[in-house]
Amino acid sequence: MSFQIKAETNVFYLIVFTLIMVSIGGLVQITPLFFQHSTTEPIKGLKPYSALRLTGRDIYIREGCNTCHSQMIRPFRAETDRYGHYSVAGEFVYDKPFLWGSKRTGPDLHRVGGRYSDEWHRVHLDQPRSVVPESVMPAYPWLNTSMANSGDILAKMRGLRMVGIPYTDADIDGALESMLTESGKASLEEITEMDAMVAYLQGLGIELKRAR
Ligand code: HEC
Repeated sequence: MSFQIKAETNVFYLIVFTLIMVSIGGLVQITPLFFQHSTTEPIKGLKPYSALRLTGRDIYIREGCNTCHSQMIRPFRAETDRYGHYSVAGEFVYDKPFLWGSKRTGPDLHRVGGRYSDEWHRVHLDQPRSVVPESVMPAYPWLNTSMANSGDILAKMRGLRMVGIPYTDADIDGALESMLTESGKASLEEITEMDAMVAYLQGLGIELKRAR
């Protein structure tokens, strides 16, 4: 019996050889990813999230915005015409966790930064139907009345630094001060969750637009 017939008629050999072939195929595809810098290097101008935007991002996660909104523009004409340049790996290197999402009940938000005014976002998040009458997006009025919790921001930034986000000591020492400047508020107690959320949204996807 030839080797091929033996391998294809004996279930045990068939499983073993299939596993070997699939492993080789897998290694060929996966190994280069570890050496490709385009997937681990930030695009030009990309910085780790500022303290205010990081706070907004956590509220975005808490409210589950990513269950209705993706942040991943695929390289298809229909998407790039609507949302702008497709997403590239280097834009996500400071995202922990990724918020790519897998469902689009609402539009993709990866390039929403700068598309609307801050005021539009505030009104829209408070009551989506006041600006988009047919909207099915829930209202988030409490973002206006709950204060952004700045108490744990330093610990959060230090934690992220431990997992590879390159915050400098100066970034962390100046975090609270930067929250004041970025939000334009006089004291930390006056910064609402809405301020943080709008800052987060307004920065989404803008570095690639700037770099071009
Ligand atoms: C139940 C699904 C759902 C959830 C949850 C949801 N949205 Fe939406 N969102 C939509 C839909 C549908 C639209 C399109 C209609 C509109 O503009 O209101 C939309 C539109 C938007 C837009 C305007 C996008 C554009 O390009 O016009 C922004 C910004 C936005 N949502 C942010 C958020 C944020 C922030 C959260 C979490 C606090 C959130 N959404 C939660 C469904 C959702």
